[in-house]
Amino acid sequence: MVKVYPEVSDEYKYAVGKAKKRLRALIAFKNCAPIMVRLAWHAAGTYDVKSMTGGPFGTIRNASELAHGANAGLEIAVNLLEPIKNEFPILSYADLYELAGVVAVEVTGGPEIAFHPGRQDKTEGPEEGRLPDATKGASHLRDVFGHMGLGDKEIVALSGAHTLGRCHKDRSGFEGAWTENPLCFDNSYFKELLAGEREGLIQLPSDKALVEDPHFRPYVELYAKDEDAFFRDYAEAHLQLSELGFADA
Ligand code: HEM
Repeated sequence: MVKVYPEVSDEYKYAVGKAKKRLRALIAFKNCAPIMVRLAWHAAGTYDVKSMTGGPFGTIRNASELAHGANAGLEIAVNLLEPIKNEFPILSYADLYELAGVVAVEVTGGPEIAFHPGRQDKTEGPEEGRLPDATKGASHLRDVFGHMGLGDKEIVALSGAHTLGRCHKDRSGFEGAWTENPLCFDNSYFKELLAGEREGLIQLPSDKALVEDPHFRPYVELYAKDEDAFFRDYAEAHLQLSELGFADA
C-alpha cells in the first residue's frame, strides 16, 4: 500500500515533539509502557480493510468502545494520557495514542518505530468483536489479522510485544507475565515460547498457536535466535499496524 502522508503545520510538529518527551517521562514514572502498547494496538487493530472502518482514529476513548470485552482495563491508559492531550490540544487523540505506543516500545529498549503525524479523530467506532480471542488458535489469528490486511510474519512479530506486560485476572481473566522482565522489550517472549510452559509465566492458547502452527513456527525460531531480525520485522509491522487506514493513497 502506497502511503501519502498529510502535511501538518509547524505548530503541530512542535506539539508532537513535546508530547513525545512528556510521554517518555510519564511512561518512566508510571512504568506503564505495556498498557500503552496494548492501547495503541487495540486502537488500531479494529481496522477492516474491506469496509475501511475501525482503526487508529481515537475512537477507543469513547465509553462504548472501552466497554468492549477485549478492552477491559484500557480506560487506565486513556486516563493517563488525558493530561498530555490537555497540554497539547492541537494533537488528535488518534496521533497521541499511536505515539504513546511507539514511545513505549522505544523506552523499554525496543526498536525505534517511525511515526508520521496527521491522523484525524473519528466519531464512529467499530462494532465489538474485531480483536483476537486469546482462547483460540492459528486459523482465528489469520482470520482476525487478515481483516487488518496483515499476514503470518506480522502476526508472529507483533505477538512479540508480549515480551512486555502481563495478564490481569480482573481484565482478561488470565493472570501472569510472559517473560521474566515484563518492562524490557527484547526477544525473550520467543525464547520462552520455544522452551514451553513453566511455573510463574503464562502462555495463552493464542501464543501457543505460534509454535504449533508450521507456518508461524519458523518465525518464532528466527526471532528467538536473532533479536535484530525480530526488531526489524517488529518495527515494520508495528508501523503498518499504527497506520491502518491512514494515509492510504
Ligand atoms: C495475537 C493475538 C493477541 C491476543 C489473543 C492477545 C491477548 C492479550 C491478553 C489476553 C492480554 C492480557 C490483558 C490483561 O489482562 O491485562 C494481553 C496483554 C497485552 N498485549 Fe496482547 N494479544 C494479542 C496480540 C497483541 C499484539 C499484536 C500486541 C502489540 C503489538 C499486544 C500487546 C500486548 C501488551 C503489551 C499486553 C500487556 C498489557 C499490560 O501489561 O497491561 N498483544 N494480550
